[in-house]
Amino acid sequence: MSKIYTTLLIFIFTLSASINSNAQDILTKILERGELRVGMSGDQPPFSMTANDGSMFGLDVDMANGLAENIGVKAKLVRMKFKDLIPALEKGEIDMVISGVTMTIERNKRVAFIGPYLISGNSVVTKSEEYAKAESLGDVDKAGVKITVMQGTTSEEFLNANIENATILRSPTNKTALKLISDGKADIMVAGYPTIAVALLEQQGEGLLTIEKPMDYEPIGIAVAPSDPLLLNLVSNYLNALRRSDILDLLKVKWFEEGSWILDAEAK
Ligand code: ARG
Repeated sequence: MSKIYTTLLIFIFTLSASINSNAQDILTKILERGELRVGMSGDQPPFSMTANDGSMFGLDVDMANGLAENIGVKAKLVRMKFKDLIPALEKGEIDMVISGVTMTIERNKRVAFIGPYLISGNSVVTKSEEYAKAESLGDVDKAGVKITVMQGTTSEEFLNANIENATILRSPTNKTALKLISDGKADIMVAGYPTIAVALLEQQGEGLLTIEKPMDYEPIGIAVAPSDPLLLNLVSNYLNALRRSDILDLLKVKWFEEGSWILDAEAK
């Protein structure tokens, strides 16, 4: 074998070895570290919320803990702003994002999604009986109407694409957006209907109203880096198992219907 050919072969071998190790290193690293790092915002009831002691709880926390337990490692929940989650995943600072994330095509160009584990859709909170009858954004898109929304979410995109006459008030979190409604500084808040269902549950007697059914459809999924097929396959199989057993349904009843966790949360 000529020297140049040998060199080439070694080069190709090293190259493919490094591609391989890159492709599989996320799951390997999780196993070596003994820790699954899951990013979530901790401010989106009932997906993830933060207790006074700084610990997080919610549907996404239960899913992260269940997944880590099945892999045989500990879950390390990493709290960060919603808009920083996908960039942190791309930088390899976390292994996955479980944070009520809508699986959009735009996001799917950057990360891989497993799901949906829940179907959401844009809904409305308002104190106005008239706006609570809205079926689409067209019904509320009038000059002088103030609509509030959390920045960086699919709800903001929904407003950007459909609102021409009303004023959009962009808020850093769902909590601050909701406060504008309570304080009478905005007429309508738009957010995913799970968020709205919880707001109504928490603020009963405040005169908050919602619409009958969501205005669109949003599949919610788990985001992982696209480079590790084994991790992608593992999470997909885990989610399928949760769906086929009663566990996912039970978790949804616990976090979306029962509402008893709200009392626990207040006591924390
Ligand atoms: N599902 C929506 C989205 O993906 C809203 C998510 C808001 N999440 C949060 N943790 N506050 O944009």
